[in-house]
Amino acid sequence: MEFDIMPWLNMAVRWLHVIAGIAWIGSSFYFIWLDNSLRPQKGDSEKGVAGSLWAVHGGGFYHKTKYRVAPDHMPDHLHWFKWEAYTTWLSGFALLVLMYYLSADLYLVDRAKLDLTNIQASALGLGALIFGWLVYDGMCRSPLRKNDALLGALWFVTLIAMAFALNKVFSGRGAMMHVGAIIGTVMAANVFIIIIPNQRKTVAAMLAGKAPDPALGLAAKQRSLHNNYMTLPVLLIMTSNHYPLFFGNPYNWALLAGFGLSGMIIRHFFNRRHKDDVRYIYLVAGALIFIVTIAFASVSQNGFVAKNIKSEADFATVKTLINTHCIMCHAARPSHEGFDAPPAGLVLTDDVQIRANAARIYEQVAVAKIMPLGNETAMSEDERAIIARWALQEKAKK
Ligand code: HEC
Repeated sequence: MEFDIMPWLNMAVRWLHVIAGIAWIGSSFYFIWLDNSLRPQKGDSEKGVAGSLWAVHGGGFYHKTKYRVAPDHMPDHLHWFKWEAYTTWLSGFALLVLMYYLSADLYLVDRAKLDLTNIQASALGLGALIFGWLVYDGMCRSPLRKNDALLGALWFVTLIAMAFALNKVFSGRGAMMHVGAIIGTVMAANVFIIIIPNQRKTVAAMLAGKAPDPALGLAAKQRSLHNNYMTLPVLLIMTSNHYPLFFGNPYNWALLAGFGLSGMIIRHFFNRRHKDDVRYIYLVAGALIFIVTIAFASVSQNGFVAKNIKSEADFATVKTLINTHCIMCHAARPSHEGFDAPPAGLVLTDDVQIRANAARIYEQVAVAKIMPLGNETAMSEDERAIIARWALQEKAKK
């Protein structure tokens, strides 16, 4: 029996991460919707109530009430929403370490950009997470905090600048994943360092019979608002490792700006809609930016250099290249120490599978240029062009 714990650990942690993420974002979306949907009822103001809402769900009726500051006395049982956020961050960080740091040579390092050791790459990645939080938190504590729009715009530009810089030192995939991890870290730290402690101070003041400091609530609310707008972009980045046409694009940082903006505008549409202020212009603008970004992606993607090839690419040449650059991983029994089974189920020792996957091979080798993984075998541009030419010939035959 052969048993390797790593792939299973990876699966378990990823499963946990997705579940915790759904719980976090689900409850966060619910509270944003609730907050925006509360309507003041008659007699509310005497009771210190800001508004309430009736809802029906799963066969039951619910009546939610929001207090302007807090109720007169503390209830015996008060639920705090925090473990959803903490579990998402902890499992996400574990996954980052398992995949991108322990196998930095495969997923994080791109030798064509910078020849880093695993330790150097991991240190750089961790440094980026801490740096991101320090910059963001500094902005929120500076006078900028009085201007939400300016702060938001500056933080957006900072993130794109970091994406640009990270893409100079890491693989496209590793760079995009780190921008996602920076945003995720900022969101979780907002909960851990600002929102929950401020809520605790408010509760403590009330129990001591003192008036809570409204600045605490305002700071928490601002961080919560930022988290709300960062949700859709971070979800896109976290799933982007399935889309080499995005992270493998040389201008992936610009695509990130476009997709991120589109996500924030769409979120804005929903935020307003909850308040019965339906403005389809935001939805249309979000969709348009998404489409323009895709159009930009297709003109800016790596193309293979046709002029490098003099003759038609024959299958025998392609097979030689695949034997040199691919089959240590893509074989029924890979010889590469990092793999026990063919990645993506793709066995490239088999001619039928090679031909059947011509289009996928073209995308991975010539467009996104992410195979061979980590370019461990230093595949040259000319070799990529030969594979590209052959793949296009295969396509033309169909
Ligand atoms: C070091 C190991 C390694 C080498 C070498 C390698 N691959 Fe891969 N390949 C992977 C892994 C791992 C995946 C799974 C993708 C992921 O997890 O992102 C993959 C996935 C793929 C996919 C499927 C992508 C998809 O989901 O559509 C294709 C196609 C592919 N590789 C082609 C190649 C070709 C062609 C070569 C040689 C030029 C090559 N690979 C070399 C590890 C390798």
